[in-house]
Amino acid sequence: MADDLSKLWQQVLADSERIKGTSLKDLFDGDDARAKVMTKTLSDGESEIVVDFSKQLVDAQALKTLMSLAVQAGVTARFTEMCNGERVNFTENQAALHTALRSARTAKLELDGQDIIKQVHEELDKIQNFSATVRSEKKFKKIVNIGIGGSDLGPALIYGALSESRKPEIDCLFVANIDSTELNAALAQCQPQETLFIVCSKSFKTAETLANARIAKQWLATGLGVGLESEVIAEHFVVVSANTSQARTSGVNANHSFQIWPWVGGRYSIASAMSLASIIAFGFETFKEFLAGMRSVDEQMQTSKPEDNITLILGLIDVFNFGTRRHSSQAVLPYASALRLLPSYLQQLIMESNGKSIRQDGSQVDIATSPIIWGGVGTNSQHAFMQMLHQGTQVVPVDFIGFAQLANADLVSHDALVANMFAQAKALAFGENQADKNNSAIAEHRKMSGNRPSTTLLAKSLTPRTLGALIAMYEHRVFVHGIIAQINSFDQWGVELGKTLSVEINQQINQNTAAVNDASTKSLIDKYRQMRRKS
Ligand code: F6P
Repeated sequence: MADDLSKLWQQVLADSERIKGTSLKDLFDGDDARAKVMTKTLSDGESEIVVDFSKQLVDAQALKTLMSLAVQAGVTARFTEMCNGERVNFTENQAALHTALRSARTAKLELDGQDIIKQVHEELDKIQNFSATVRSEKKFKKIVNIGIGGSDLGPALIYGALSESRKPEIDCLFVANIDSTELNAALAQCQPQETLFIVCSKSFKTAETLANARIAKQWLATGLGVGLESEVIAEHFVVVSANTSQARTSGVNANHSFQIWPWVGGRYSIASAMSLASIIAFGFETFKEFLAGMRSVDEQMQTSKPEDNITLILGLIDVFNFGTRRHSSQAVLPYASALRLLPSYLQQLIMESNGKSIRQDGSQVDIATSPIIWGGVGTNSQHAFMQMLHQGTQVVPVDFIGFAQLANADLVSHDALVANMFAQAKALAFGENQADKNNSAIAEHRKMSGNRPSTTLLAKSLTPRTLGALIAMYEHRVFVHGIIAQINSFDQWGVELGKTLSVEINQQINQNTAAVNDASTKSLIDKYRQMRRKS
């Protein structure tokens, strides 16, 4: 890290140490304006999302240093460079142009002499036409999305988030795991004649997706009473890939295919044709609103004054909470059952992006990178793991996400839902000495220390725009932390070894090939071989 950056980083570490001696109670007692000053808004282009980060254990001095660090590292300039096609994915010599997927048709962007915006909008026009046709023909009653990682979590998140406020025109089921339980459960709800399979895979080499597509194709052929290579089969398959020719090679013939591009990472592909199932379910206009919400945050990231750039601020607070190693995990708690998939989606987005330890120059990082991302919906989490967050030995910063209105909500229950979210943030921040006057023996056990940080995001309602804005905000927080840590947030070399080993071990299981494994794995293989078919 260059000297001036290193000096600023040392100051951040000093602030982190200093802040340990401060309490949120003291910070609020010492500054009546704290809540007001540390509440900003994030616009989805239509409504404002309130973001209150005043319960984060950070003060003006620390924020000032973090902002200087961001300026010194050129974070927003680097962000604009990424949006303009810089090959930020330096280990794969690739751009990361997920922002181009939601750019306006009038935007200008070339990459390697290619008109990126033209390509994106030609594909969006194809998607619009196809989804309109499927919705109007009413031939298909069920869509089964077959994909994994970003080829599953994105479309599934949109589908779950919007299904309450918008009735899907066609029911969608999402199948990812190679554990065929998932696919069996989905197929049990489907009639072959009325089922459309959307096979999503950027590489079209992902074992789980190919296995599920193979089983689905066999199920369809049997159900329709045709051969596997019948043209009829292809009418029931759609392929979404950066490698659509590989689909045919892999035995998945489809009458329709849509492309994504090498410059879109799987975990950044929600704004692409990967979300086709949900686009068909809700209609293209809904998806356009979703893209508009994402675009609004992309624009704010580039045009806001740093002190008003809430996405930048939250990214810097992530650096302060996790980069300094003060905390190692972050909980995401949406107080909306419709966002039950958001923690899983963010696990891939954040941990697959920033779960790295080597800097651009090949040296080990000196800033901690991705926290462990986990979470669950409120209020369920209050009856599951909030005990540990209130009185455990590890402090876990929380993102609370709530909505002033939720579709079809009972208003009395909704008030209670939001009151619970506010109560949890308050109890975490300020605690209370719940001393039981009649029973001092357990007084220590009842103490709530407080001083546990959180950010509360409060949106008006869970619209496609708001959903898009929230996701783009998290994407760009990842970018901020990645730039400060000087890592590559856009490759994922760490997932390759497991895939290669699984093929070798599978061969050993089935062909009893020579033991190439360590004693433990070999012993487990032997036991599995004895157990798996015994009955
Ligand atoms: O986990 C590795 C990964 O490549 C993810 O980045 C990706 O979202 C997922 O597997 C699926 O990859 P594909 O879309 O190529 O099937």
